Amino acid sequence: MSFQLGLIGYPIKHSLSPWIHKKFLRASNLEGEYSIIEIDPGLNFADQMEKFKQNRIDGFNVTVPYKQKIISYLDHVDEEAQNIGAVNTVVNRNGKWTGYNTDSIGYVRSLEAKYPEAFTQKSTRILLIGAGGAARGIYYSLVSSGFKQIDIANRTTESAEKIAKHSYVNTNVLTLTSAERRLGRYDIIIQTTSVGMKPNEDRSIISLENLKESSIVSDIIYQPIKTKILSAAESKGASIHFGHTMLLYQAQYAFEIWTNQKMPVNDMDDQLKNILE
Ligand code: ATR
Repeated sequence: MSFQLGLIGYPIKHSLSPWIHKKFLRASNLEGEYSIIEIDPGLNFADQMEKFKQNRIDGFNVTVPYKQKIISYLDHVDEEAQNIGAVNTVVNRNGKWTGYNTDSIGYVRSLEAKYPEAFTQKSTRILLIGAGGAARGIYYSLVSSGFKQIDIANRTTESAEKIAKHSYVNTNVLTLTSAERRLGRYDIIIQTTSVGMKPNEDRSIISLENLKESSIVSDIIYQPIKTKILSAAESKGASIHFGHTMLLYQAQYAFEIWTNQKMPVNDMDDQLKNILE
């Protein structure tokens, strides 16, 4: 069989997903295509979906601005995606569409691939910076991975409280300044806000003065590759974890949902880094 795969969103001409999935298709010896289906937000989404459903499609990714909108067109939504409230991967099984969210599990997979020891020590203390959609998903995936101490720091503490409210793990909600003061307590610090994304944005969301050298600092931003917070962490001697690896692992999980094949991504890491640099 030939897999008909694709991506819906807008604008998506520069998306890296076709590059990744075409490599997966080639490496897995599966026949198929991964197409870009740009849907202008000015058009009626319901009409566009109606048209789209008439084509043969085995699976597709969903990106901005449709990750929430797509949900009402699905037959099933996986529990993780329901909790997050956003779908980035849809599989067509015998005409029924099921939605998943592979972003946060992908992120956690990328972290585990690089730092497996952090996943075996359940005493690992994590600080999540940010309380938007990305932070919420990553928080739940970390809880599912068994971590017991995950604190959340955010400019607006109310949003962080909302995430922590439904959780049974130990979560302190912090302001950004109190996180700076307590930074030395954390083994893993994960930056999930948009701060650092704009070119020439010359700051890290928090000061890393109190960072301990044995910590891992991770940023989910993938362009620029090395954000200010990662540069600051590196100069303090800490380990750094790049955002582009999340891109590879969320795609790995999506491809697995569509084809049942888990493709290795290690050899793509440097290639993707070169593309983004
Ligand atoms: P996403 O869904 O991609 O996570 P989002 O829901 O818009 O994006 O969340 C953005 C996150 O970045 C939030 O944690 C936001 O903080 P607030 O909840 O206080 O708004 C954070 N953020 C964005 N710009 C920021 C800035 N200039 N300083 C500090 N935090 C910022």
